[in-house]
Amino acid sequence: MNYIDLDRTEGYKALIGTGKCTVQELLSPERIRNCDIRLGGGLRYNWAAMPISGDAAAKLQALADEEDLAGKYRELLSGAMMNTGEKRLVLHHLTRGNVLGVKVEADGEDKEAFYSGELERIREFSAAVRDGRIKGSTGKEITTVCQIGIGGSDLGPRALYLALRGWAEGSGVKQLRGEFISNVDPDDAAAVIRNLDFERTLFILVSKSGTTQETLTNRDLVLETLRKSPIKGLVPSKHMIAVTSKTSPLAKDDSMLAAFFMDDYIGGRYSSTSAVGGVVLSLCFGFDTFRALLDGAHEEDRLSLESSITENGALMDALIGFYLRNIMGYPATAILPYSQALSRFPAHLQQLDMESNGKHVNRNGEKISYPTGPVIFGEPGTNGQHSFYQLLHQGSDIIPLQFIGFRECQYGEDIETAGSYSQTKLNANLIAQIAAFARGKDDSNPNKEFDGNRPSSLIYGDRLTPSSLGALLSHFENKVMFQGFIWNLNSFDQEGVQLGKVLAKKVLAGCEGDDILKAYADLLI
Ligand code: F6P
Repeated sequence: MNYIDLDRTEGYKALIGTGKCTVQELLSPERIRNCDIRLGGGLRYNWAAMPISGDAAAKLQALADEEDLAGKYRELLSGAMMNTGEKRLVLHHLTRGNVLGVKVEADGEDKEAFYSGELERIREFSAAVRDGRIKGSTGKEITTVCQIGIGGSDLGPRALYLALRGWAEGSGVKQLRGEFISNVDPDDAAAVIRNLDFERTLFILVSKSGTTQETLTNRDLVLETLRKSPIKGLVPSKHMIAVTSKTSPLAKDDSMLAAFFMDDYIGGRYSSTSAVGGVVLSLCFGFDTFRALLDGAHEEDRLSLESSITENGALMDALIGFYLRNIMGYPATAILPYSQALSRFPAHLQQLDMESNGKHVNRNGEKISYPTGPVIFGEPGTNGQHSFYQLLHQGSDIIPLQFIGFRECQYGEDIETAGSYSQTKLNANLIAQIAAFARGKDDSNPNKEFDGNRPSSLIYGDRLTPSSLGALLSHFENKVMFQGFIWNLNSFDQEGVQLGKVLAKKVLAGCEGDDILKAYADLLI
């Protein structure tokens, strides 16, 4: 498979010549009905309010065909070594199902069998904890699980946990409480630990590498706190399980109650559907809930195979994002879920997108001359409206927006007041924002004038459920993957996070003669 230098592709050159259309010109009721693509889990992706004319869409399709983006996805699914920097396969799709139905082997092992074997172990273990067959060391039932991990071992699982709490409540699904400790700031652990009943808490230590400073420090902090506890008969290690790779140092620690495995072919930010997310979500909501999430993701993974961009929401989203970044020159993208349950989803997408595509060299290690991944940020609506939307509406930069909304709430507890339900008010605001950003408003007072032409897309569905959440997760994972293909990046390594880790070690070792580090250390340590 050839990876092309974007500057030299015919598709890119053709797009540069595309007459730039405005959203104002393009937006129409007919377009809102037509520019709408089915995603998995009952979701849809609507791109009507994007500055993409029919001509631009045709050229995006031509670029997708020229670069064989769908083919590269098939190659990844078939077990090609897509993570060139680390010399690894990229197998997170296989954690939710076998999209192509082909056997993928690595290190002499059938990887589908490995991931489904771990799933089965998670199913058995989570059921035994939830129905009280596995108890805490003093004989009490486990009611709380607390995940210790950082980056991909925290953000995705935490975002998904928060996204499903209201659904579980509204659907009568038994829940164990989920807590998360990630930051090496001792206040993070302290704030969580003081509200835990240790006898009823199971800690999940999650680290693929088993070497992450923050996670090992928090493990030690938790174990030390448990050891110091006056509770009679409490055995700290029996309140801790691990999720790691078989080659990590943690895998050798047999003092813990249990261990579940993923492997090096699952990138941290892509690991929510592996044991990294599977253990905590199955414990908190039951395995069937996690399975439904995997099925939603798998459905979206299958839809992402389509080579026609009008039938492949992830591919279309990727190409539009590329157009906005490389043709229009927009520097950022805001993720705006009108769903409180998705409060940490933008934080997860920050890592997913920026750690994957925030790159300055291509797959051959050559410096890139064109812009790559945008800055990602976001907050749920309507809260964001009362915060940073001022800049989005009238700021000097145009920031493309990705809205997410649902017809129904999760808890099913709503009130009609002033003539409408809260959920209706929420969605009225969402609709108003799309229109306001697209159309703008003339005014004789420039301060009250809105230029409009601020692009947005909308992912929408009936309700945020395990299945729609899985599809939403996969949609963004696949969008980021396709963009990496377009930019000819390795979206699956993260060398940019290493330098800071090395320097932090140096500071801890007394700065080793580095004057600058020492001068800053004098301010803080
Ligand atoms: O520092 C970045 C990172 O390497 C992420 O890519 C990863 O998700 C995180 O650290 C945690 O890694 P681990 O699961 O190995 O502890």
